[in-house]
Amino acid sequence: RGELKKKKLVWLELNGCSGNIISLMNGTNPDLEYAITSMVDLVYSNSLMVAEGEAAISRLVTLIEQKEDFILAVEGAVSLKNNGLYHVIGRWKGEPLTGLEAAKMLGEKASHVIAVGACAVDGGPSAARPNPAQCVGLQSVLNRKVIKLPGCPCHPDWFLGTLAHLLMYGEPKLDQQDRPLLFYSTSLHDRCPRLIYFERGIFSKTLGEPFCLFKLGCRGPVTRVDCPTRKWNGYVNWPIGASTCIGCSQFGFPDKMEPFVTY
Ligand code: SF4
Ligand code: F3S
Repeated sequence: RGELKKKKLVWLELNGCSGNIISLMNGTNPDLEYAITSMVDLVYSNSLMVAEGEAAISRLVTLIEQKEDFILAVEGAVSLKNNGLYHVIGRWKGEPLTGLEAAKMLGEKASHVIAVGACAVDGGPSAARPNPAQCVGLQSVLNRKVIKLPGCPCHPDWFLGTLAHLLMYGEPKLDQQDRPLLFYSTSLHDRCPRLIYFERGIFSKTLGEPFCLFKLGCRGPVTRVDCPTRKWNGYVNWPIGASTCIGCSQFGFPDKMEPFVTY
């Protein structure tokens, strides 16, 4: 049994919708309050912290200058256009600090780096065609291991479970694309409760029918994640229980998963 060693956590929001930090706030196992009081010291999160302006940015600079040990979680994609100027996260000593600079500065020094959600993993919706801000995933600007938690958004358990593993036992086992096997080792289709209809060739003709959604474009067969058994919003429902799976937890989402529904 491992012992939890509390660490500092930086949560950086780059190009995206902030959906992953909002999803994290929906976590119940543990909840966010437990996570930021008993698991980590949350040094920086522009959605959650009180500090703003240079006082907020100085927290990042101090971490680096004092060579502190910290974990970096990033949501959102990195904008490369105009050397990162399409996404400025704040100012430091009067100069703009771009998301690109912050990702590199912190990403090179953190003990572990976690890409949370589709945009940080490989660009996601921020990098969807025509991608005017030239967004890319975090790995494209860092020459080191980035643990990847794809999903749009990332389920709170996927992040908190990975974080807990890092704090108690070190890095969890990852697949060849650096996703934790804890959450991303199984095919969504193989565990879907509608698989019995797929095998018997009984397909829904419109969303809302209770049969297999394959002929409506369900992306379950090409998606590896544990949504069917974990479920969402306090473990009550999941996309196939409500409409269909659009493959939000698969690399290449959304462009490679379109069209989302075919009639
Ligand atoms: Fe597979 Fe989707 Fe059909 Fe479920 S609904 S069995 S994931 S194709
Ligand atoms: Fe996303 Fe499909 Fe799960 S749409 S949340 S991967 S069921």
